[in-house]
Amino acid sequence: AENGYDLWLRYKPVHETSLKNNYQSVIKQISASGNSASLIAAITELQIGMKGLLNVSLPHVKTVNVNGTLLLGTPSTNAAIARLNLAELKDLGKEGYLIKSLQINRRSCTVIASNTDIGLLYGSYHLLRLIQTRHSIQKLLIVEKPKIQLRVLNHWDNLNGTVERGYAGSSLWDWQRLPGYLDPRYTDYARANASIGINGTVINNVNASAKSLTKTYLLKAAALADVFRPYGIKVYLTARFSAPIEIGGLKTADPLDPEVIKWWKLKVDEIYRYIPDFGGFLVKANSEGQPGPQDYKRSHAEGANMMADALAPHNGVVMWRAFVYENIKGEDRAKQAYQEFKKFDGDFKSNVLLQPKNGPIDFQPREPFHPLFGAMSKTQLMLEFQITQEYLGFATHLVYLAPMFKETLSTDTYAKGKGSTIAKIVEGKLESHQISGIAGVANIGSDINWTGHPFAQSNWYAFGRMAWNPEASPETIADDWLKMTFSTDPSFVVPVKEYMLASREHAVHYMMPLGLNHIMNLGTHYGPGPWDKIPGWNAHDYHLADAEGLGVDRTDKGSNAVEQYFPEVRQKYNDIKSIPPELLLWFHHVPWKYRMPTGKSLWEELVYTYYSGVSAVEKMQNTWDGLKDKVDPLRFVQVKQLLAEQQREAAWWRDGSVLYFQTYSKMPLPQGFKVPA
Ligand code: GCU
Repeated sequence: AENGYDLWLRYKPVHETSLKNNYQSVIKQISASGNSASLIAAITELQIGMKGLLNVSLPHVKTVNVNGTLLLGTPSTNAAIARLNLAELKDLGKEGYLIKSLQINRRSCTVIASNTDIGLLYGSYHLLRLIQTRHSIQKLLIVEKPKIQLRVLNHWDNLNGTVERGYAGSSLWDWQRLPGYLDPRYTDYARANASIGINGTVINNVNASAKSLTKTYLLKAAALADVFRPYGIKVYLTARFSAPIEIGGLKTADPLDPEVIKWWKLKVDEIYRYIPDFGGFLVKANSEGQPGPQDYKRSHAEGANMMADALAPHNGVVMWRAFVYENIKGEDRAKQAYQEFKKFDGDFKSNVLLQPKNGPIDFQPREPFHPLFGAMSKTQLMLEFQITQEYLGFATHLVYLAPMFKETLSTDTYAKGKGSTIAKIVEGKLESHQISGIAGVANIGSDINWTGHPFAQSNWYAFGRMAWNPEASPETIADDWLKMTFSTDPSFVVPVKEYMLASREHAVHYMMPLGLNHIMNLGTHYGPGPWDKIPGWNAHDYHLADAEGLGVDRTDKGSNAVEQYFPEVRQKYNDIKSIPPELLLWFHHVPWKYRMPTGKSLWEELVYTYYSGVSAVEKMQNTWDGLKDKVDPLRFVQVKQLLAEQQREAAWWRDGSVLYFQTYSKMPLPQGFKVPA
């Protein structure tokens, strides 16, 4: 049965006869020279893919002697490619590729060319995707290269096999049996990532264990790195700041202490002995109780630079997280990362990337963009998205995240005038930085289908595609993913895609509409909890409902978080007349009777929005039921059950939130709305 294990690499037969004949005539054999592991991976993938899609076994030949040869190579390893003198290759860098239909020896060929074998692998996946999505493969001229250099998954995986905020089983990494036993799944993981251009993986949790830097664990990490290398994927590790004490026997982890500096240098040298292409460290320091340089009255910059110095001789990087918020007493949480980091702009070494989340609080269903974007022109900023749905329904709700990624990436910070989008900043283009990067907190685990919810695979997929090209359209990505993962039948693809594209907005509507945030159950992060209070946390601080109204005043009359944005953005957010309704309560405390642009009062709008989120899920349930014949039975039932659960929980969110806020508004539900008994 279809269990989802093959992800978007299912390679099911092309049934449309004329298309199939056409594909078969264009691709009959492969010609390639060289024997690097990456090239072999590319050829193997093409052979598996074409066998599945077209039922042909592609012979691997030395010369181009018939029409329908697929020629694969780099100018330095393949004479036929070198002879073509392909001008396009000049700008393609190390990872780009060219796919081109042309004549060689008077034979029609398809060429996949690049400067490295990794480019060939990426190009092979692209060609396969064209067939999987039923595009023409004649007269091809495709020139592709990634816009962001480091496209990295962050696994929040613990050494005991659990995954922090993981909802798809346990960790993929079998630490017990590594390095001797290499689960074949590691290769499939690498294939999936390579197919979408992901080129790095941080394999352990940001809440790090120092043990992962001991020799025992480094050898295990090295075994994984060996599996991933042919697929262009580098391994990174999180580094616990206090490791010199915990595993090094030192008395301090002070980043300016000569012994500490030496310890990290030797540790890094040791890592590179096992993993010659090790990517570097990801560090969560002085954040949520993690150790860091501030424990020694040193700054974030001093901490990051010390590690950067150790890594620099090996070309490794430090990805230093900017997720900090509890160190400035009494200050608005949304303002704190900016306050802590902005002052260090220009102080970081050239192999440091600072990594803020997309928004200033914490992966909420909707946040305004993080004000550090645009504010640190001399610093390489690496954007962190969360693919795992910690605040968006875990692996239970169908929520397609690409529109959310897009919302952040396309937002204009106005840092250097109009057009200073976050995409440009992350690409390093706004300031011509040397290194650029983007991270996604992985939603992958040991579940047979990798991500728990069959549709959660689309978020892993979309992250990769948008990391490669932040301008890519969520619609095209959904279209490709659906065709590769489920079916190319338009009567399936069209309605499901429509729902996917709207699904994140629906989730915002039934969870935290109009700029509300952090009103979930504070212990589990699941389900509504605007009333919740646990030691150190009070959900009320995040919505400030009272008899007068709802929302947090972050204008210049309130916490003045708006000040951290550039004037165009600041003014828009500061003024209740120009704030986009979807961010209203993030920045303003608004009277219940306030007239919204729709003409409804805030109270009515809130209720209406909560209800509309739930009805959207109900509509999707109907749509899905009607698609029974178009989906394999197992996944049909899985999604059906999950949608029913999503509906139930959406109603739970709606009823819990509406009834709770009603205790403040003391207003009746608008006509036609009822909370079920
Ligand atoms: C969230 C999440 C934590 C995680 C933290 C982080 O707060 O709930 O589990 O450790 O983010 O990003 O560091």
